Amino acid sequence: MKNPLIQLNGITKVFRVGGEDFSALHEINLSIEPKSFMSFVGPSGSGKTTLLNLIGGLDTPTSGEIKFGDESLGDMSPDQRALYRRENIGFIFQSYNLLPVYNIYENILFPFLLANLKESAVRDRVMSIIEQVGLMPQINKRPSELSGGQCQRVAIARALVKEPRLVLADEPTANLDKENSYQILELMLDLNKKFDAAFIFSTHDEKVTKFVRREVGLEDGYVRWDKRRNGVGDFE
Ligand SMILES: Nc1ncnc2c1ncn2[C@@H]1O[C@H](COP(=O)(O)OP(=O)(O)O)[C@@H](O)[C@H]1O
Ligand SMILES: [Mg+2]
Repeated sequence: MKNPLIQLNGITKVFRVGGEDFSALHEINLSIEPKSFMSFVGPSGSGKTTLLNLIGGLDTPTSGEIKFGDESLGDMSPDQRALYRRENIGFIFQSYNLLPVYNIYENILFPFLLANLKESAVRDRVMSIIEQVGLMPQINKRPSELSGGQCQRVAIARALVKEPRLVLADEPTANLDKENSYQILELMLDLNKKFDAAFIFSTHDEKVTKFVRREVGLEDGYVRWDKRRNGVGDFE
């Protein structure tokens, strides 16, 4: 593989639970291409969220190395890792994690405010992504006035508005019914083609499988399989 976006070399994660060590991930080696559209699949407790958190720089491995392009996450200070997250990664969560007192426009603007950018400088980008996720009619509404599928569209827009290289989505369809799950997956696949962003999902939802180009199976913290599929989306 030429120039992977993410490289995991011998990643392990050990948690201390009740005075004992528990290995949540064992010697994970993976290369992930730019513009991937892939999932980590496995039962609850298999290590999916732990792995996404490590790739996203939200947590650090017990041993092994994670590289983003040429940069090693292990060489970064906590502040540098926070900057790495802000500049390179969009996060989408199962429970959407929207700010309840803000309307849709403000929720999607929020990543720019965190980066100290002025609203006037980014308003067009915020409006453009709201248009692309189909939420113009809801722009002034608050999250409590939206359906689950609409909330997840807001979360997707917020994750993409700064045009990150990587989007990490932890069980993004877990709270959605079938129809909404398909719509959300189609939207993400469409945005994956339009934007220069790789998408990595964690899921145990079989509906997700139909959309991804690569599936990495996890069980008890081990990679059990790594399948690629042709004919889904456009591989570049
Ligand atoms: N902060 C933590 N402290 C202790 N154990 C943890 C922690 N986070 C995850 N684990 C354990 O690691 C294993 C993998 O968890 P997780 O990555 O959340 O799995 P999944 O997302 O596939 O359900 C589970 O056994 C879980 O209990
Ligand atoms: Mg999980």
